[in-house]
Amino acid sequence: MTGTDAIADNPRTAAPAFGVYVHWPFCLSKCPYCDFNSHVRHAAIDEARFVRAFTAEIAATAARVPGRAVSTIFFGGGTPSLMQPATVGAILDAIARHWTIMPEVEVTLEANPTSVEATRFRGYRAAGVNRVSLGVQALDAVAIARAAFERTSFDLIYARPRQTPQAWAAELERAITEAGEHLSLYQLTIEHDTPFAALHAAGKLVTPDEDTARALYDTTQAICAGAGLPAYEISNHARPGAECRHNLVYWRAHEYAGIGPGAHGRLDIGGERHATATEKRPEAWLMRVESLGHGVVVDEVLTREQMADEFLLMGLRLAEGIDPERYARLAGRPLDPRRIAILHEEGAVETTADGMLRVTLAGFPILDAVVADLAA
Ligand SMILES: C[S@@+](CC[C@H](N)C(=O)[O-])C[C@H]1O[C@@H](n2cnc3c(N)ncnc32)[C@H](O)[C@@H]1O
Ligand code: SF4
Repeated sequence: MTGTDAIADNPRTAAPAFGVYVHWPFCLSKCPYCDFNSHVRHAAIDEARFVRAFTAEIAATAARVPGRAVSTIFFGGGTPSLMQPATVGAILDAIARHWTIMPEVEVTLEANPTSVEATRFRGYRAAGVNRVSLGVQALDAVAIARAAFERTSFDLIYARPRQTPQAWAAELERAITEAGEHLSLYQLTIEHDTPFAALHAAGKLVTPDEDTARALYDTTQAICAGAGLPAYEISNHARPGAECRHNLVYWRAHEYAGIGPGAHGRLDIGGERHATATEKRPEAWLMRVESLGHGVVVDEVLTREQMADEFLLMGLRLAEGIDPERYARLAGRPLDPRRIAILHEEGAVETTADGMLRVTLAGFPILDAVVADLAA
């Protein structure tokens, strides 16, 4: 597979992919809307100690799922661009020692570059990173990233307080002129236990009402599609062929290892699918790995029902949709034809010529309800 034909692959026949997610749990400061596993530390981080722990956890995971061919690696966070390039290189070396690396492997690193971090970009490139995903704060850093990497993406949050569709359209048009091949556009979510949640509860932060949110969403779809960056997933837009192959591993319910504090994995062992999660707190994760050789605190075998629900929940986010036959194999029973017929009639889903079931543009704003209906 090459970097340009990922989505062109027929999702029904594509070889199962294996991804590795590596979580770097530190940020310079905490954004008031963010509930990701990210922490601010004022003392220097002992990166050599983290490298030893990442290496141990990679070895322990590879012992459970040996012989895999890694097609994607994703350094997420937190702010992975705070890592030294040598740290990234050492983690990539550890992955390569325990699994086979596919020749066209996609290696993404999330970055919130300040001018200092931007100078590290060449180091990441030399270490083996070939794609960078930039955070919202980074619009003016896009040019620097594009100079160092062939493949770049950046994130923007919309549906912000008082944001009008006109203002968003102007911001998005400007972003698209800077964008390379991929954009992640997230509607602001008010997450529990964040400063934004407190402001929201006090009426001091007002998010757009349903109609405005819908208009913002429609504006997003129209502008991106017009610029050659259609949505291939509910919040992700790419030039055809430039989709993030790592995130496709999740949405197509393939297998992935979760390495580092608070990382989730899905491992296929002995014909069963294991859902794994590691200790979230960075220092507790380190100590756990140092004493046990891994940081796993959750390791649950999924039932057929859970696998089938997850397949629907993830797969229906994709514009390509899901293969109903794969659903039937996972669930042990087909989707209910009456429910599909009703959703068809409502215009929320459609069946493609090659038999994929997918959510329509009109159905995407009510995706949660569509999934709940099909999974019931
Ligand atoms: C969790 S961050 C990790 C990478 C990097 N630190 C960054 O900020 O981009 C990834 C993205 O999640 C998105 N995000 C975080 N909290 C969000 C929220 N409450 N609503 C919508 N998007 C959010 C932001 O777009 C952010 O760029
Ligand atoms: S930089 Fe990214 S991960 Fe860190 S707090 Fe902000 S949104 Fe969250």
